[in-house]
Amino acid sequence: MVGKICGTGSYVPPHVMDNDDLAKIVDTSDEWIRERTGIGKRHIIEEETTSYMAGQAALRAVEQSGIDPSEIELIIAATSSSDVVFPCAACEVQKTIGAVHAAGYDMNAACTGFVLAFNTAQAYISAGIYKTVLVIGADSMSNLVDWNDRGTCILFGDGAGAVLLRAEEGTPVYMAAHSDGGKGQALTLQSRHRKDWDKESGEESYIYMDGQAVFKFAVRKVPEIIEEVLEKAEMSLEQIDYFVLHQANRRIIEAAAKRLKTDITKFPMNLEEYANTSAATVPILLDEMNREGSLKRGQKIMLAGFGAGLTWAASLFEW
Ligand code: COA
Repeated sequence: MVGKICGTGSYVPPHVMDNDDLAKIVDTSDEWIRERTGIGKRHIIEEETTSYMAGQAALRAVEQSGIDPSEIELIIAATSSSDVVFPCAACEVQKTIGAVHAAGYDMNAACTGFVLAFNTAQAYISAGIYKTVLVIGADSMSNLVDWNDRGTCILFGDGAGAVLLRAEEGTPVYMAAHSDGGKGQALTLQSRHRKDWDKESGEESYIYMDGQAVFKFAVRKVPEIIEEVLEKAEMSLEQIDYFVLHQANRRIIEAAAKRLKTDITKFPMNLEEYANTSAATVPILLDEMNREGSLKRGQKIMLAGFGAGLTWAASLFEW
């Protein structure tokens, strides 16, 4: 059995901060940000929380599927920014959508989280353990960045996306995942409770990033893992309809497409509108593609995520 996507949903906060707004806070410009990243704006939470956004995305996915929430057996929420340590975001979502029979837990692999959660759900389904699984990626990066650091605050935004998987007979899902803890210092966050942390240690706790190291890592590892999954599936690059990559930076996606010698039109992007929403980028993009009618049954979709850890993962499935 494989987990077929029977519903997608997403939520982004209505409050928008464009590059000109950022230029009033840090020494930057719309031109610099667009040229180096492709980002034009980001949606930022005001009253919303990570769990709230996750719940709204989940409600939309469930509504689209037509499946009764009581049939959902498992909820996995990929997030590194849930508002409280526990209860986990997945249990908050369970409450929001009324999935009374579901088990729920969170997974944290930063920006790679959604692809790993998706693969985990597929493993449960192919093992016959669960039939109906909700997978969410949700993050409030605006709570984690230092708004005085122009090297990082320009890159991120807030949002959530969800897919509902239902067990069906079908083409297997092929997947791969890797980590390199030895290079973890390239992208770190000491605590998501930065005010408490500051009080105790006197240290600031924000996202720290060696941008060039992360850039080089992504450009090398994303094409590698895509090739690895294709080899497992005994398929070629030409057979893939869409490569849905983590939306961190336009230049990373363009470089990956170039290394794979694949037309950039097969690499959909929405980071101009939302920036990097960490675990949420892949499911938000999938939801947009689904709702605008770009996805047709039988198409081959390759997901690929990368981020802190360092971690990277990919998944190949038939829509
Ligand atoms: N606006 C204007 N100038 C900026 C700036 C900003 N927002 N951020 C950095 N700069 C400056 C730097 O201070 C530096 O100035 P200097 O030459 O006077 O020292 C110059 O621009 C070049 O900085 P550099 O860091 O070399 O730029 P870059 O081309 O590597 O681009 C990133 C920076 C962050 C956009 C790029 O490294 C990147 O996208 N990396 C990947 C990050 C990522 O995707 N992380 C998440 C992964 S999940």
